[in-house]
Amino acid sequence: MKQQKYSTLGLILMFLKGSKKYFVLTVLSALGMTLTEMLPPQIIKFTVDSVIGNADPDLPQAMLAVLDKMGGVDAFRAHLWWSAVGVAVAALLSAVCRYGFRLYNTKASETLVESMRNRIFDHIQCLPFAWHMENQTGDIIQRCTSDVDMVRNFLSEQLTAVFRIVTLLTLSLWFMVQLNGTLTLVSVGMLTLVLLYSMFFHKQIGSGFAKADAKEGDLSAIAQENLTGVRVVRAFGREEYERQRFYECDKEYSALWMKLCIKLSTFWTSTSFISGMQVMMIVVLGAAFCVSGNMTAGAYIAFISYNAMLTWPVRQLGRMISEMSKAGVSIERIKHIMNSAAEQDKPEALTPPLDRDIIFDNVSFRYGNAKVLDSVSFTIKAGETLGILGSTGSGKSTLMYLLDRLYELPPEGGKITVGGVDIADIKAEHLRRHIGMVLQEPYLFSRTIEQNIGIAMEDADAEDIREAARAADLHESIEGFAAGYDTFVGERGVTLSGGQKQRTAIARMLLRPTPIMILDDSLSAVDTETDAHIRKALRRKTKGSTTILISHRITTLMQADQIIVLDKGRIIERGSHRELLEKNGVYRKIYDMQSRKEEADV
Ligand SMILES: Nc1ncnc2c1ncn2[C@@H]1O[C@H](COP(=O)(O)OP(=O)(O)O)[C@@H](O)[C@H]1O
Ligand SMILES: [Mg+2]
Repeated sequence: MKQQKYSTLGLILMFLKGSKKYFVLTVLSALGMTLTEMLPPQIIKFTVDSVIGNADPDLPQAMLAVLDKMGGVDAFRAHLWWSAVGVAVAALLSAVCRYGFRLYNTKASETLVESMRNRIFDHIQCLPFAWHMENQTGDIIQRCTSDVDMVRNFLSEQLTAVFRIVTLLTLSLWFMVQLNGTLTLVSVGMLTLVLLYSMFFHKQIGSGFAKADAKEGDLSAIAQENLTGVRVVRAFGREEYERQRFYECDKEYSALWMKLCIKLSTFWTSTSFISGMQVMMIVVLGAAFCVSGNMTAGAYIAFISYNAMLTWPVRQLGRMISEMSKAGVSIERIKHIMNSAAEQDKPEALTPPLDRDIIFDNVSFRYGNAKVLDSVSFTIKAGETLGILGSTGSGKSTLMYLLDRLYELPPEGGKITVGGVDIADIKAEHLRRHIGMVLQEPYLFSRTIEQNIGIAMEDADAEDIREAARAADLHESIEGFAAGYDTFVGERGVTLSGGQKQRTAIARMLLRPTPIMILDDSLSAVDTETDAHIRKALRRKTKGSTTILISHRITTLMQADQIIVLDKGRIIERGSHRELLEKNGVYRKIYDMQSRKEEADV
């Protein structure tokens, strides 16, 4: 799959796939609606001037022929209701077009937004782990919700509305010029004023809306923090403080809105007034033209009708033009996601067997500028167990992320091979399917325990899940719950203790034995006894698998075939438990400390 870089237009066109036909139908309906709206004033003009009055019908050649066929003006005089029916038919047609416009516009809008959401979600799923670490969850979610909405609004509402308003303006003005040039000039002059005022006003008020949005963000952040952090708030008795903080923010938010509403009211009233003055000028001037014989009564009425059609849309147009720039910002924000490079395998990625020796060869790695691993080399023989001991931040988890290719090792950072094959040449999916990993901070989904364990394997059967839970020493705890395996694990698994969460994650891994198994500090939250219990089961379950155990508890590691001691990204000691004890180095020191502590605990 080739990585695509979208231009703004390219991205929009890609999102529009599937909804284009609805957009075309929307535009056609809008056109039909505008055209039919132009008819009634013409019918009225004809009726007033030629049917009631005596003027020659001022109609295009084709229409005159139709008129003749119908029996000329006299026939209309005999059947005055014909004009009424004409207006009614035009209104009906316009209503049908309006219905089509709404319908197709909604379809266009919904298919568009669905496609946008799906495509963005698809792409996010393909983005590398490192990308997820660099970008804040809240920010990504905002891009997927508010920004998507903003772009949807722009394409399906603003653009179609602008199209409709512009055609309405063009057609009305064209008819108005036919009726009276001078009067049109006056009308256009005043409307331009309203348009400019509206654009200026909405540009101005944009910053007010932005401020209100930001305040709303603050308010929901306080609410969210208090919901997730409820335990801290209660434990430290901070309810009153938090309440005051919320009240204050809420008050500021309301004040901002109040200010905005006052400004908006001023705008709408003042433009209403200007529009009223505009209508007054047209009425007075037009009347003067009629009296002086420069305009017929019918043309006068028609002109006023067309003019009235414009005042509302012109004010809207000003708002839309000034708001369109917001969509530009949003599409850029979405582009940032869509143009981030997806994770990619090499063209001829391999799928070798992974039950082989793992070699870390001079591995160095940095996050940005911070050096985390410095020339780390070790070999794990197939089927053996490696223990890694090291203080927090010494780079243990990073070693495992690199093995799983969650972070890519740069070419100058050494090499990791399995069975002699550089993992950079292995298909990422193949590699990860064959590495079972229990992360240091297990993540549980808001699903049942059974589903949470079952994630490791599609259509895992209930007995396998129970077997895995037994091996992870979790079965009894689960049976103790009223709903057993159907116990719902709340948001982030609040109903489980830290140790139970870790054991759920272990069960998840054990459900699908893999040639390589990693336990990253996965027993830290369980007591020593349970730890020993689980390790025994693990040894049974992971028999034949190459296993990596990370811990800062020596009892967890001591049965490993080989142990490395990591400090600030470097290996400072290595060997078996016995060899390391004899060395009398750091390992020995930690061992003595932990033994003393355990004795004291007992
Ligand atoms: N995504 C990251 N970006 C920047 N620094 C990181 C990132 N992840 C870890 N680190 C830093 O790298 C160092 C090693 O982290 P880690 O491998 O998690 O250590 P350990 O698992 O031994 O506690 C730490 O100093 C940590 O702060
Ligand atoms: Mg770690």
